[in-house]
Amino acid sequence: MRHLMSPLDFTVEELEKLFCLAVEMEKDPDKYAHLCDRKKLATLFYEPSTRTRLSFETAMLNLGGSVIGFADASSSSVSKGESVADTIRVISCFADIAAMRHPKEGAPMVAAANSSIPVINAGDGGHQHPTQTLTDLLTIRALKGHLGNMTVGLCGDLKFGRTVHSLINALVRYEGIRFVFISPEELKVPDYITDMLKEKNIPYEEVIRLEDRIGDLDLLYMTRVQKERFFNEEDYIRLKDFYILDKAKMELAPEKMLVLHPLPRVNEISVDVDDDPRAVYFKQVQYGMYVRMALIATLLELV
Ligand code: NCD
Repeated sequence: MRHLMSPLDFTVEELEKLFCLAVEMEKDPDKYAHLCDRKKLATLFYEPSTRTRLSFETAMLNLGGSVIGFADASSSSVSKGESVADTIRVISCFADIAAMRHPKEGAPMVAAANSSIPVINAGDGGHQHPTQTLTDLLTIRALKGHLGNMTVGLCGDLKFGRTVHSLINALVRYEGIRFVFISPEELKVPDYITDMLKEKNIPYEEVIRLEDRIGDLDLLYMTRVQKERFFNEEDYIRLKDFYILDKAKMELAPEKMLVLHPLPRVNEISVDVDDDPRAVYFKQVQYGMYVRMALIATLLELV
């Protein structure tokens, strides 16, 4: 039995297989419409989510399966003090596969260690968000045609943004990746990530102004300042609108640069960018659903 805790749990070859399956599912949904008949997915969300939870649930429904779970820990036995280990033991009796989001780093790993069904990490604190990374990689692969040889700009909250940490971890396995980290001093990418890049000899730069480097990017990954992970509101208020990608900045960007964002967006991308063909964050949501379909089918060993 396999779980998905980090994007590195799959080899590059296994990821390629997963992406091919996701593309096939998009092309021929009828072929997969009953793959998960009588199977159940449990979504255990201890932290707010719209897209990720509904994406998982829609993915399972598209495969003919059904869904149980909670979207708010206060409405479950967690509010009575139940541990993650006990919750997953119980859920293992009801469902065939589970997706868990938790504010504490490592909670899905505790669940996996106590589970008799596959567990998917749907985001743990500021740590990892592997299915968002699968979404991001599938989007890049589909719209750029390849995953290596590009300059990737990541902009915004690089300190607390778990999607950023997972994506960097995953991209370093492809040839010819260069990173430009664009953030205020307070929200720089953690040292454990830059140490890993140094060790692997992967080129990266850290800059503050988006305008200075937007012209060199093949891909710009915008992120929201992660309000819920700040220790004081003053800092959040000071930093929240540090970057706003607007039409004027897009004029400085290459014609083929893609703009991705895991969503939800707050102010960091002005709505007048949405019509720009380079803005692909809503397409990204669609790819997310297909890649989760492929992931569920793979972890349930139905393909
Ligand atoms: C992201 C997350 O939860 O980390 N959202 C998502 O799952 N698409 C990004 C965010 O909340 O900023």
